[in-house]
Amino acid sequence: MSAFKICPAFVRNPMNRLVHGLFGPVLRRLGYERKARPFSDFISFKETLTAAKSAGLSVGEYIERKHATGTRSALDQTIDGLASLGLFNGPIERICEIGPGSGRYLERINARCRPRLYEIYETSQEWRNWLMENYGVISRTCDGRTLAQTASGSVDLVHAHKVFAGLPFLTTASYFREMARIVKDGGWVVFDIMTEPCLSGKNLEAWFNENPWDWAWSPHLTPRDYTVGIFADKGILLAGSFQVPLFPAITECMAFRKASSRSTSAASDAGGSAARFPQPGHQPIP
Ligand SMILES: C[S@@+](CC[C@H](N)C(=O)[O-])C[C@H]1O[C@@H](n2cnc3c(N)ncnc32)[C@H](O)[C@@H]1O
Repeated sequence: MSAFKICPAFVRNPMNRLVHGLFGPVLRRLGYERKARPFSDFISFKETLTAAKSAGLSVGEYIERKHATGTRSALDQTIDGLASLGLFNGPIERICEIGPGSGRYLERINARCRPRLYEIYETSQEWRNWLMENYGVISRTCDGRTLAQTASGSVDLVHAHKVFAGLPFLTTASYFREMARIVKDGGWVVFDIMTEPCLSGKNLEAWFNENPWDWAWSPHLTPRDYTVGIFADKGILLAGSFQVPLFPAITECMAFRKASSRSTSAASDAGGSAARFPQPGHQPIP
């Protein structure tokens, strides 16, 4: 993630944007400008902890305020959306999260679900060590594309936030396959992606306006119907979806639920096709 992505206030300042646009490439060549951190490193661990401390805030609160674009953050909106889809209505005892970063979502989901086991797959070593120390989660070996240390059909919830929007398609597709493998019957698969409406003309313009050419990541489109279809083919149905902010535009958060073995076999008796599954609570995006 680029330093400029994580600091919207910087890029919104017209003078900074002008200086960066004019001199960025030269300064970088001369070694004066910081290189963007790779997406797999997340934001600087040391700088974030120091900044949070001097602001008198927890790390989570500090990052939330830095990202804030309105009164309800992407995190707040995600938790509200998942609650309204009924995710917190039943027991969620075992959770797996991909790319938790500073643990913003982890903290909130942990507090709501009180699981017996919370495991993470995170590429940044500094952040995953910190999460283990602070939240007692289990950090699995992260190869960047599989959930190899988690048994099939073993988790009640597998989720990822603000991760797939920045990953290449094949990596996301590999994680989709793995999420479908490890979720239990009746369990939930939750993630946000950039579907077609997230890159509509207006949203694309917002991206261009940020001049993001030297960011460490770029937005990746993941088609909506394709995504719904590949999960439905495995008996994992879309329970609902809603849009959430991701600077400078939005992503679509999708919540899927794996059908019980009985309904899965009934569906395959009926032909097994994704399109034949009912889509309860599906909220079409305008
Ligand atoms: C934009 S950050 C989002 C962090 C966190 N989910 C949040 O919303 O605050 C992306 C996170 O995914 C991690 N990441 C990047 N590539 C990954 C990969 N291939 N597998 C697992 N995690 C990855 C990064 O280290 C970072 O923690």
